[in-house]
Amino acid sequence: MTSAIKTSSGAKYAKIMSVGGYRPERIVTNAEICEHIDSSDEWIRERSGIIERRYAALDETVVDMGAAAAAQALERSGIAPEQIGMVLTANVTHPYQTPSAAAEIAYRIGAVTAGALDIAAACAGFCYGVGLGNDLVCGGTANYVIVIGVEKLSDWTDPKDRGSAFIFADGAGAVVIGPSDTPAIGPTIWGADGSQKDAITMTQSWIEYRKNGGEVFPNLVMQGQQVFRWAVSEMPKVASRALDAAGVQLADLDAFIPHQANMRITDAIAKSLKLPAHIPIARDIAYTGNTSAASVPLAMDSMLAAGEIPSGGTALLIGFGAGLVYAAQVVILP
Ligand code: UT7
Repeated sequence: MTSAIKTSSGAKYAKIMSVGGYRPERIVTNAEICEHIDSSDEWIRERSGIIERRYAALDETVVDMGAAAAAQALERSGIAPEQIGMVLTANVTHPYQTPSAAAEIAYRIGAVTAGALDIAAACAGFCYGVGLGNDLVCGGTANYVIVIGVEKLSDWTDPKDRGSAFIFADGAGAVVIGPSDTPAIGPTIWGADGSQKDAITMTQSWIEYRKNGGEVFPNLVMQGQQVFRWAVSEMPKVASRALDAAGVQLADLDAFIPHQANMRITDAIAKSLKLPAHIPIARDIAYTGNTSAASVPLAMDSMLAAGEIPSGGTALLIGFGAGLVYAAQVVILP
């Protein structure tokens, strides 16, 4: 019997080294959405803040979009694909139960020695991934981790469903996480409330779909008001806990990048937090729609590219969605 086994030990700290994004080409206007539902451009703008969104091409997949965002983040990081130890792909729209999107993305980007797995934490999936990526690097299980948030929600949304057709969209964002000499990813505050599992779910399971002769496709359905109320009442508390855990004051933030669920939810959380007016808030939803797991990295990418927020600045991230689940952390921007 051996008295001890070797264990891995990692970096003291981890950081987000780079971010990349992929936005599909096709712009879908509110007018196009309203061809299928009884609604209006004015109502959609007012109630969600969405002016237009992007849909992937019919033959464009979660893997295609995820690999594009990951390749961009990888290139910007200066890290070789062989150095990546883990590919985490947060999504709920890869249309195969198995294998994972992550395994295929890892192969496509040349991360040939990496582990790969998908994270099914819906709109919170990217922030779950950042927490896990931090811990993998600090635990020594991986030197570098790619975290991808990607969704093709257009495949899973009923264009005739008035409660969801106007909100969901497609896209991908990714970050590379690696070792850091200084603290750059605060503790992740996460949680789940499965008692609200029906708030965002599928019309039925695949088993029911088969039993019912394939009549009702398992599209996403959402109890919009229930999710709205939960997000607005609970997420400010989660955001405050993430700030406290990181020892960061609201006034010290350079960016607030919440999941792009609904512009009104973003505004309500900012108001409830008493976020100082000068701190930039992600409003990517206006031209991107709600891209679930992709929304936080896509917003981060566009704000950095536009010079709205500084590289090296401090950002509060928060994701929340189906489960219901949530995750938040304070990070230093790449
Ligand atoms: O990303 C994952 C998490 N998801 C979210 O966080 C989404 C959370 N929920 C929401 O963002 C909002 O609930 C929605 C944007 C989905 C809906 O907005 P709402 O303000 O909650 O609308 P509502 O369901 O309370 O409906 C208000 C009114 C109703 O009419 P009456 O009863 O006041 O006459 C609805 O019938 O708006 C009507 N309505 C619509 N009108 C035009 C509902 N859907 C539509 C529509 N177009 N698409």
